Amino acid sequence: MGAILEIDGLHKRYGDVGALAGVSLTIRGGEFFTLLGPSGCGKTTLLRSVAGFLRPDGGRILCDGERLDRLPAHKRDIGMVFQNYAIFPHLSVFENVAYGLRARRVEPVEIRRRAMDALRLVQMDTLADRRPDQLSGGQQQRVALARAMAIRPRLLLMDEPLSNLDAKLRVEMRTEIRRLQRELGITTVYVTHDQEEALAISERLAVLNAGRVEQVGFPWDVYQAPGSAFVARFIGTSNALVGRLVATDGDRPQVEFGGWTTRARPRDGLAGRVLAVFRPEALSLATEAPSGPDASAGEAVVVSREFLGAVLRYRLRLDDGRLIYLDEHKPDATRLRGEGVRVRFTVQPEAVMLFPVEEPL
Ligand SMILES: Nc1ncnc2c1ncn2[C@@H]1O[C@H](COP(=O)(O)OP(=O)(O)OP(=O)(O)O)[C@@H](O)[C@H]1O
Ligand SMILES: [Mg+2]
Repeated sequence: MGAILEIDGLHKRYGDVGALAGVSLTIRGGEFFTLLGPSGCGKTTLLRSVAGFLRPDGGRILCDGERLDRLPAHKRDIGMVFQNYAIFPHLSVFENVAYGLRARRVEPVEIRRRAMDALRLVQMDTLADRRPDQLSGGQQQRVALARAMAIRPRLLLMDEPLSNLDAKLRVEMRTEIRRLQRELGITTVYVTHDQEEALAISERLAVLNAGRVEQVGFPWDVYQAPGSAFVARFIGTSNALVGRLVATDGDRPQVEFGGWTTRARPRDGLAGRVLAVFRPEALSLATEAPSGPDASAGEAVVVSREFLGAVLRYRLRLDDGRLIYLDEHKPDATRLRGEGVRVRFTVQPEAVMLFPVEEPL
Protein backbone atom coordinates (compact mmCIF):
# COMPACT_ATOMS: atom_id res chain seq x y z
CA MET A 1 0.00 0.00 0.00
CA GLY A 2 1.35 3.42 -0.92
CA ALA A 3 1.65 6.46 1.28
CA ILE A 4 -1.29 8.56 2.45
CA LEU A 5 -0.99 12.23 1.50
CA GLU A 6 -2.86 14.88 3.47
CA ILE A 7 -3.04 18.48 2.34
CA ASP A 8 -4.55 20.70 4.95
CA GLY A 9 -5.60 24.33 4.44
CA LEU A 10 -2.88 25.22 1.94
CA HIS A 11 -2.51 28.91 1.05
CA LYS A 12 -0.16 30.53 -1.44
CA ARG A 13 0.08 34.03 -2.89
CA TYR A 14 2.50 35.41 -5.45
CA GLY A 15 2.51 39.10 -4.56
CA ASP A 16 -1.03 40.25 -5.36
CA VAL A 17 -2.04 37.01 -7.04
CA GLY A 18 -3.79 34.44 -4.85
CA ALA A 19 -2.86 31.01 -6.22
CA LEU A 20 -4.15 28.69 -3.46
CA ALA A 21 -6.95 29.85 -1.19
CA GLY A 22 -7.18 27.10 1.42
CA VAL A 23 -6.90 23.73 -0.31
CA SER A 24 -7.54 20.58 1.73
CA LEU A 25 -7.40 17.10 0.22
CA THR A 26 -6.73 13.58 1.45
CA ILE A 27 -5.19 11.21 -1.07
CA ARG A 28 -5.46 7.55 -0.14
CA GLY A 29 -2.61 5.07 -0.10
CA GLY A 30 -1.91 3.69 -3.59
CA GLU A 31 -4.49 5.94 -5.17
CA PHE A 32 -4.31 7.57 -8.61
CA PHE A 33 -5.63 11.04 -7.84
CA THR A 34 -6.02 13.86 -10.36
CA LEU A 35 -6.07 17.63 -9.96
CA LEU A 36 -8.23 19.01 -12.75
CA GLY A 37 -8.96 22.63 -13.49
CA PRO A 38 -8.57 25.45 -15.99
CA SER A 39 -5.30 27.23 -16.68
CA GLY A 40 -4.19 29.34 -13.72
CA CYS A 41 -6.35 27.60 -11.09
CA GLY A 42 -3.33 26.59 -8.98
CA LYS A 43 -2.59 23.00 -10.02
CA THR A 44 1.15 23.45 -10.54
CA THR A 45 1.42 25.57 -7.40
CA LEU A 46 -0.19 22.79 -5.39
CA LEU A 47 2.02 20.09 -6.89
CA ARG A 48 5.23 22.08 -6.42
CA SER A 49 4.29 22.78 -2.83
CA VAL A 50 4.00 19.03 -2.21
CA ALA A 51 7.30 18.39 -4.01
CA GLY A 52 9.02 21.11 -1.95
CA PHE A 53 9.99 23.45 -4.80
CA LEU A 54 7.68 26.12 -3.40
CA ARG A 55 6.98 27.21 0.13
CA PRO A 56 3.27 27.71 0.84
CA ASP A 57 2.22 30.69 2.99
CA GLY A 58 0.04 28.59 5.24
CA GLY A 59 -1.31 25.11 5.82
CA ARG A 60 0.26 21.70 6.30
CA ILE A 61 1.27 18.77 4.10
CA LEU A 62 1.53 15.34 5.71
CA CYS A 63 2.71 12.03 4.32
CA ASP A 64 1.78 9.01 6.44
CA GLY A 65 1.25 11.41 9.31
CA GLU A 66 4.71 13.02 9.01
CA ARG A 67 5.09 16.76 8.26
CA LEU A 68 6.33 16.67 4.68
CA ASP A 69 6.37 20.46 4.40
CA ARG A 70 9.13 20.70 7.01
CA LEU A 71 11.52 18.60 4.92
CA PRO A 72 13.72 19.98 2.14
CA ALA A 73 12.69 18.81 -1.36
CA HIS A 74 15.45 16.19 -1.68
CA LYS A 75 14.45 14.50 1.57
CA ARG A 76 10.75 14.16 0.68
CA ASP A 77 11.17 10.92 -1.28
CA ILE A 78 9.04 12.10 -4.18
CA GLY A 79 9.30 11.32 -7.89
CA MET A 80 8.21 14.10 -10.19
CA VAL A 81 7.44 14.19 -13.92
CA PHE A 82 7.18 17.62 -15.53
CA GLN A 83 5.26 18.87 -18.53
CA ASN A 84 8.35 19.53 -20.63
CA TYR A 85 10.07 16.17 -19.90
CA ALA A 86 13.04 17.88 -18.21
CA ILE A 87 15.39 15.05 -19.01
CA PHE A 88 19.04 15.95 -19.35
CA PRO A 89 19.92 16.39 -23.04
CA HIS A 90 23.62 15.60 -22.57
CA LEU A 91 23.07 12.31 -20.70
CA SER A 92 22.15 8.96 -22.22
CA VAL A 93 18.79 7.37 -21.45
CA PHE A 94 20.46 5.12 -18.90
CA GLU A 95 22.32 8.01 -17.22
CA ASN A 96 19.13 10.05 -17.03
CA VAL A 97 17.43 7.28 -15.11
CA ALA A 98 20.51 6.54 -12.97
CA TYR A 99 20.90 10.21 -12.03
CA GLY A 100 18.56 10.22 -9.04
CA LEU A 101 20.05 6.97 -7.76
CA ARG A 102 23.61 8.33 -7.92
CA ALA A 103 22.44 11.46 -6.08
CA ARG A 104 21.13 9.11 -3.38
CA ARG A 105 24.48 7.30 -3.23
CA VAL A 106 23.05 3.93 -4.19
CA GLU A 107 25.70 1.21 -4.88
CA PRO A 108 26.77 1.08 -8.58
CA VAL A 109 25.59 -2.52 -9.08
CA GLU A 110 22.25 -1.64 -7.56
CA ILE A 111 22.05 1.50 -9.72
CA ARG A 112 22.47 -0.60 -12.85
CA ARG A 113 19.82 -3.08 -11.73
CA ARG A 114 17.24 -0.49 -10.68
CA ALA A 115 17.73 1.80 -13.66
CA MET A 116 17.38 -1.12 -16.08
CA ASP A 117 14.31 -2.40 -14.19
CA ALA A 118 12.69 1.03 -14.50
CA LEU A 119 13.56 1.21 -18.21
CA ARG A 120 12.14 -2.27 -18.78
CA LEU A 121 8.88 -1.17 -17.14
CA VAL A 122 8.47 1.61 -19.68
CA GLN A 123 9.83 -0.57 -22.53
CA MET A 124 12.89 1.58 -23.08
CA ASP A 125 15.61 -0.86 -21.95
CA THR A 126 16.74 -1.54 -25.52
CA LEU A 127 17.36 2.19 -26.07
CA ALA A 128 19.36 2.72 -22.87
CA ASP A 129 22.43 4.07 -24.72
CA ARG A 130 20.62 6.65 -26.85
CA ARG A 131 20.71 10.37 -26.23
CA PRO A 132 17.41 12.28 -25.73
CA ASP A 133 17.70 14.00 -29.13
CA GLN A 134 17.58 10.57 -30.76
CA LEU A 135 14.19 9.81 -29.19
CA SER A 136 10.59 10.64 -30.07
CA GLY A 137 8.50 12.78 -27.71
CA GLY A 138 6.70 9.74 -26.35
CA GLN A 139 9.99 7.92 -25.76
CA GLN A 140 11.42 10.95 -23.93
CA GLN A 141 8.37 11.02 -21.74
CA ARG A 142 8.86 7.33 -20.94
CA VAL A 143 12.42 8.11 -19.84
CA ALA A 144 11.13 10.88 -17.57
CA LEU A 145 8.67 8.41 -16.08
CA ALA A 146 11.35 5.75 -15.58
CA ARG A 147 13.59 8.31 -13.92
CA ALA A 148 10.84 9.29 -11.47
CA MET A 149 10.07 5.66 -10.66
CA ALA A 150 13.64 4.36 -10.39
CA ILE A 151 14.10 6.02 -7.01
CA ARG A 152 11.02 4.10 -5.81
CA PRO A 153 9.43 7.19 -4.34
CA ARG A 154 6.61 7.02 -1.84
CA LEU A 155 4.75 9.62 -3.92
CA LEU A 156 4.70 10.16 -7.66
CA LEU A 157 3.70 13.63 -8.90
CA MET A 158 2.99 14.32 -12.56
CA ASP A 159 2.33 17.80 -13.94
CA GLU A 160 0.63 17.58 -17.35
CA PRO A 161 3.10 14.91 -18.44
CA LEU A 162 1.38 14.26 -21.77
CA SER A 163 0.68 17.78 -22.96
CA ASN A 164 3.52 17.82 -25.50
CA LEU A 165 2.40 14.63 -27.22
CA ASP A 166 0.02 14.22 -30.12
CA ALA A 167 -3.56 13.10 -29.48
CA LYS A 168 -3.09 9.41 -30.27
CA LEU A 169 0.09 9.05 -28.23
CA ARG A 170 -1.52 10.84 -25.29
CA VAL A 171 -4.22 8.21 -25.16
CA GLU A 172 -1.71 5.36 -25.41
CA MET A 173 0.59 6.85 -22.79
CA ARG A 174 -2.17 7.54 -20.30
CA THR A 175 -3.23 3.90 -20.42
CA GLU A 176 0.40 2.91 -19.92
CA ILE A 177 0.93 5.30 -17.00
CA ARG A 178 -2.16 3.93 -15.30
CA ARG A 179 -1.02 0.31 -15.83
CA LEU A 180 2.42 1.07 -14.37
CA GLN A 181 0.97 2.91 -11.42
CA ARG A 182 -1.37 0.00 -10.67
CA GLU A 183 1.52 -2.46 -10.92
CA LEU A 184 3.73 -0.46 -8.54
CA GLY A 185 0.97 0.80 -6.23
CA ILE A 186 2.64 4.20 -5.83
CA THR A 187 0.34 6.93 -4.53
CA THR A 188 0.12 9.28 -7.49
CA VAL A 189 -1.07 12.85 -7.95
CA TYR A 190 -1.60 13.71 -11.59
CA VAL A 191 -2.29 17.18 -12.96
CA THR A 192 -4.20 17.93 -16.14
CA HIS A 193 -6.53 20.57 -17.55
CA ASP A 194 -7.97 18.00 -19.96
CA GLN A 195 -11.23 16.78 -18.50
CA GLU A 196 -11.47 13.75 -20.74
CA GLU A 197 -7.99 12.62 -19.69
CA ALA A 198 -8.91 13.16 -16.03
CA LEU A 199 -12.09 11.10 -16.33
CA ALA A 200 -10.25 8.31 -18.13
CA ILE A 201 -7.21 7.95 -15.91
CA SER A 202 -8.27 8.83 -12.34
CA GLU A 203 -9.44 6.75 -9.46
CA ARG A 204 -10.69 9.97 -7.87
CA LEU A 205 -10.23 13.57 -8.87
CA ALA A 206 -10.51 17.07 -7.50
CA VAL A 207 -11.83 19.91 -9.64
CA LEU A 208 -10.04 23.17 -8.79
CA ASN A 209 -11.27 26.66 -9.56
CA ALA A 210 -9.36 29.83 -8.72
CA GLY A 211 -7.29 28.23 -5.96
CA ARG A 212 -10.15 26.34 -4.33
CA VAL A 213 -11.44 22.79 -4.46
CA GLU A 214 -14.87 22.79 -6.11
CA GLN A 215 -15.54 19.06 -5.87
CA VAL A 216 -13.79 15.79 -5.05
CA GLY A 217 -15.14 12.48 -6.24
CA PHE A 218 -15.06 9.48 -8.53
CA PRO A 219 -15.04 10.42 -12.22
CA TRP A 220 -18.50 8.99 -12.76
CA ASP A 221 -20.00 10.99 -9.88
CA VAL A 222 -18.33 14.24 -10.87
CA TYR A 223 -19.69 13.79 -14.39
CA GLN A 224 -23.18 12.66 -13.42
CA ALA A 225 -23.70 14.82 -10.36
CA PRO A 226 -21.58 17.98 -10.57
CA GLY A 227 -21.78 19.90 -7.32
CA SER A 228 -21.67 23.36 -8.86
CA ALA A 229 -22.37 25.15 -12.11
CA PHE A 230 -18.63 25.55 -12.57
CA VAL A 231 -18.02 21.78 -12.45
CA ALA A 232 -21.03 21.05 -14.63
CA ARG A 233 -19.74 23.41 -17.28
CA PHE A 234 -16.10 22.45 -17.02
CA ILE A 235 -16.60 18.69 -17.31
CA GLY A 236 -17.78 17.62 -20.72
CA THR A 237 -19.32 19.83 -23.36
CA SER A 238 -22.22 21.66 -21.81
CA ASN A 239 -25.13 23.82 -22.73
CA ALA A 240 -25.80 26.45 -20.08
CA LEU A 241 -28.92 28.59 -20.34
CA VAL A 242 -30.52 30.95 -17.89
CA GLY A 243 -34.24 30.24 -17.60
CA ARG A 244 -37.16 30.79 -15.27
CA LEU A 245 -38.51 28.20 -12.85
CA VAL A 246 -42.24 28.11 -13.62
CA ALA A 247 -43.36 25.04 -11.68
CA THR A 248 -41.99 23.03 -8.82
CA ASP A 249 -44.95 20.69 -8.47
CA GLY A 250 -44.43 16.93 -8.73
CA ASP A 251 -41.02 15.29 -9.02
CA ARG A 252 -39.62 17.46 -11.75
CA PRO A 253 -39.29 21.23 -11.67
CA GLN A 254 -40.20 22.95 -14.91
CA VAL A 255 -38.05 25.63 -16.49
CA GLU A 256 -39.08 28.03 -19.23
CA PHE A 257 -36.66 29.54 -21.77
CA GLY A 258 -38.39 32.12 -23.95
CA GLY A 259 -40.87 29.97 -25.85
CA TRP A 260 -40.11 26.43 -24.78
CA THR A 261 -39.89 24.50 -21.54
CA THR A 262 -38.28 21.45 -20.06
CA ARG A 263 -38.65 19.47 -16.88
CA ALA A 264 -35.41 19.10 -14.91
CA ARG A 265 -33.63 17.08 -12.24
CA PRO A 266 -35.07 17.99 -8.83
CA ARG A 267 -33.15 20.46 -6.71
CA ASP A 268 -34.28 22.26 -3.56
CA GLY A 269 -33.98 25.90 -2.69
CA LEU A 270 -34.34 27.46 -6.14
CA ALA A 271 -36.81 30.08 -7.32
CA GLY A 272 -37.13 32.54 -10.18
CA ARG A 273 -34.12 32.71 -12.47
CA VAL A 274 -32.03 29.53 -12.66
CA LEU A 275 -29.06 28.31 -14.65
CA ALA A 276 -29.87 25.07 -16.48
CA VAL A 277 -26.87 23.00 -17.56
CA PHE A 278 -27.36 20.03 -19.85
CA ARG A 279 -25.02 18.11 -22.08
CA PRO A 280 -25.46 17.70 -25.83
CA GLU A 281 -26.31 14.03 -25.36
CA ALA A 282 -29.38 15.01 -23.29
CA LEU A 283 -31.01 16.35 -26.46
CA SER A 284 -32.48 14.36 -29.35
CA LEU A 285 -33.88 15.42 -32.67
CA ALA A 286 -37.61 14.76 -32.83
CA THR A 287 -40.07 14.42 -35.66
CA GLU A 288 -43.21 15.20 -33.65
CA ALA A 289 -44.04 18.79 -32.70
CA PRO A 290 -43.55 19.42 -29.00
CA SER A 291 -46.96 18.96 -27.39
CA GLY A 292 -48.60 20.26 -24.24
CA PRO A 293 -47.49 22.91 -21.79
CA ASP A 294 -45.46 20.25 -19.98
CA ALA A 295 -43.28 19.21 -22.91
CA SER A 296 -39.53 18.94 -22.53
CA ALA A 297 -38.98 20.08 -26.06
CA GLY A 298 -38.34 23.02 -28.30
CA GLU A 299 -37.50 24.16 -31.80
CA ALA A 300 -34.32 25.64 -33.24
CA VAL A 301 -32.44 26.24 -36.47
CA VAL A 302 -29.31 24.32 -37.46
CA VAL A 303 -26.28 26.62 -37.52
CA SER A 304 -23.64 24.01 -38.23
CA ARG A 305 -22.89 20.34 -38.01
CA GLU A 306 -19.70 18.58 -36.97
CA PHE A 307 -18.90 14.93 -37.62
CA LEU A 308 -16.97 13.53 -34.63
CA GLY A 309 -16.86 9.86 -35.62
CA ALA A 310 -19.35 8.07 -33.39
CA VAL A 311 -21.27 11.28 -32.84
CA LEU A 312 -22.76 13.96 -35.03
CA ARG A 313 -22.80 17.29 -33.18
CA TYR A 314 -25.29 19.95 -34.24
CA ARG A 315 -25.02 23.57 -33.21
CA LEU A 316 -28.52 24.99 -32.98
CA ARG A 317 -29.85 28.53 -32.66
CA LEU A 318 -32.90 28.95 -30.45
CA ASP A 319 -35.55 31.50 -31.38
CA ASP A 320 -34.14 34.01 -28.89
CA GLY A 321 -30.70 33.72 -30.51
CA ARG A 322 -29.00 31.58 -27.89
CA LEU A 323 -26.93 28.64 -29.14
CA ILE A 324 -26.96 25.04 -27.93
CA TYR A 325 -25.29 21.77 -28.95
CA LEU A 326 -27.15 18.57 -29.71
CA ASP A 327 -25.37 15.24 -30.15
CA GLU A 328 -26.78 12.52 -32.30
CA HIS A 329 -25.31 9.11 -31.55
CA LYS A 330 -25.29 6.52 -34.33
CA PRO A 331 -26.22 9.22 -36.85
CA ASP A 332 -28.28 8.16 -39.82
CA ALA A 333 -26.59 9.41 -43.02
CA THR A 334 -29.92 9.57 -44.84
CA ARG A 335 -31.41 11.93 -42.27
CA LEU A 336 -28.82 14.66 -41.92
CA ARG A 337 -30.20 18.14 -41.18
CA GLY A 338 -28.53 20.89 -43.15
CA GLU A 339 -27.63 24.43 -42.23
CA GLY A 340 -30.67 26.73 -41.87
CA VAL A 341 -33.13 23.86 -41.41
CA ARG A 342 -35.65 24.21 -38.59
CA VAL A 343 -35.64 21.19 -36.28
CA ARG A 344 -37.51 20.00 -33.23
CA PHE A 345 -35.71 18.59 -30.25
CA THR A 346 -36.62 16.88 -27.01
CA VAL A 347 -34.74 17.01 -23.71
CA GLN A 348 -34.26 14.25 -21.12
CA PRO A 349 -35.46 15.88 -17.88
CA GLU A 350 -33.12 13.74 -15.75
CA ALA A 351 -30.14 15.24 -17.55
CA VAL A 352 -31.06 18.89 -16.95
CA MET A 353 -29.18 20.17 -13.89
CA LEU A 354 -30.27 23.37 -12.20
CA PHE A 355 -28.08 25.85 -10.33
CA PRO A 356 -28.57 29.29 -8.83
CA VAL A 357 -27.83 32.05 -11.33
CA GLU A 358 -25.51 34.04 -9.08
CA GLU A 359 -22.74 31.45 -9.42
CA PRO A 360 -20.06 32.89 -11.72
CA LEU A 361 -20.44 31.87 -15.33
N1 LIG B 1 6.06 32.71 -10.04
C1 LIG B 1 4.87 33.31 -10.11
N2 LIG B 1 4.73 34.64 -9.89
C2 LIG B 1 3.53 35.25 -9.94
N3 LIG B 1 2.37 34.59 -10.19
C3 LIG B 1 2.44 33.27 -10.41
C4 LIG B 1 3.67 32.55 -10.39
N4 LIG B 1 3.44 31.25 -10.64
C5 LIG B 1 2.10 31.17 -10.82
N5 LIG B 1 1.50 32.36 -10.68
C6 LIG B 1 0.04 32.64 -10.76
O1 LIG B 1 -0.61 31.82 -9.83
C7 LIG B 1 -1.81 31.28 -10.36
C8 LIG B 1 -1.74 29.75 -10.33
O2 LIG B 1 -0.71 29.32 -11.22
P1 LIG B 1 -0.40 27.78 -11.50
O3 LIG B 1 0.82 27.72 -12.32
O4 LIG B 1 -0.42 27.04 -10.23
O5 LIG B 1 -1.68 27.39 -12.38
P2 LIG B 1 -2.00 26.02 -13.16
O6 LIG B 1 -3.34 25.57 -12.68
O7 LIG B 1 -0.87 25.07 -13.06
O8 LIG B 1 -2.18 26.53 -14.67
P3 LIG B 1 -1.77 25.80 -16.08
O9 LIG B 1 -2.88 24.82 -16.38
O10 LIG B 1 -1.79 26.94 -17.05
O11 LIG B 1 -0.43 25.16 -15.92
C9 LIG B 1 -1.95 31.87 -11.74
O12 LIG B 1 -2.77 32.99 -11.65
C10 LIG B 1 -0.53 32.27 -12.11
O13 LIG B 1 -0.52 33.35 -13.00
MG1 LIG C 1 0.45 24.25 -14.47
